[in-house]
Amino acid sequence: MENTNAEKKTILSGIQPSGTLTIGNYLGALRNWAKIQYEYNCYFCVVDLHAITVRQVPAELRQNSLKTMALYLAAGIDPRENAIFLQSHVPAHAQLGWVLDCFTMFGELSRMTQFKDKSAKHADNINAGLFTYPVLMAADILLYQADLVPVGADQKQHIEIARDIAIRFNNTYSDTFKIPEPYMPKIGTKIMSLTDPLSKMSKSDPGDGSVFLLDSRDTVIRKIKRAVTDSGSEVRFAEGKDGINNLMNIYAAFTGKTYGEIEREFEGKGYGDFKLAVGEVAADALSALQDKYNVFLADKAQLDAVLTDGAERASYTANKTLRKVYRKVGFYSVNK
Ligand code: TRP
Repeated sequence: MENTNAEKKTILSGIQPSGTLTIGNYLGALRNWAKIQYEYNCYFCVVDLHAITVRQVPAELRQNSLKTMALYLAAGIDPRENAIFLQSHVPAHAQLGWVLDCFTMFGELSRMTQFKDKSAKHADNINAGLFTYPVLMAADILLYQADLVPVGADQKQHIEIARDIAIRFNNTYSDTFKIPEPYMPKIGTKIMSLTDPLSKMSKSDPGDGSVFLLDSRDTVIRKIKRAVTDSGSEVRFAEGKDGINNLMNIYAAFTGKTYGEIEREFEGKGYGDFKLAVGEVAADALSALQDKYNVFLADKAQLDAVLTDGAERASYTANKTLRKVYRKVGFYSVNK
């Protein structure tokens, strides 16, 4: 079945199932996806092929893939409206990835900051997949002729290279790929680590820096209570107060309040009261999400049906692009 409506623009995005999603993924991605899902033709992918660029425990990867899918659904992404699927279920991603590898330069991949960061972090496993990661991501996007790609600021360089690859391919042959644009969420939704407010909150942070979507109420409140803040006491959004700024962002995102409203609400109160309030709104929101998640995760047959249907819809569009690409590069196809 097709997942396109010619009047709507197309969106594709993905999250790696490399751990449990965090409130950063929820506030920065999932919640926005649920908001825009009826305005665009959407493809929401769980990028398991990307996840193995870092060694995964197989049983955990399988479980995390399903959990991520159940969280997509719990966040309100409607599988009747959107193609939601696992990347490994649509072979065209790997197939186009290979072709695009041959249109990507060693030099440009060497300049990717995420590659440099990840190779420093996983110095014992700097594999070729980690190096060509952005090419597979370009394939994810270009297969669906996506107009817009919702991503965080850290992924902007990857969208740039996807555009460069697409333009290079189009110039070598003829128009084949739509040139995608990044679609940034508004400022304020980038959630930072609670223990290191200068780096992004991460799924793979084993410490207390991340609030995971499946954390218990007590854990959420405890982690936020211990969040790193400066030595001041005034709840105010200001340069250099990275810890407080981050907590204000979290509070603002969950309550819809502005910084000014938050400052007034906590005037004369200390960081302790504020942290407790942030912990409580986060815990309330997560417990509502978890109730829905548990229902989805318990129904394996329904999840499998969603995955099968999602992969079918995605394959329809992806294979159309892949056939074009194969023809243009000169692969022979048997006349049937
Ligand atoms: N690289 C992205 C990240 O780490 C995940 C990703 C893979 C992605 N393929 C994508 C995001 C395609 C958007 C579109 O966040």
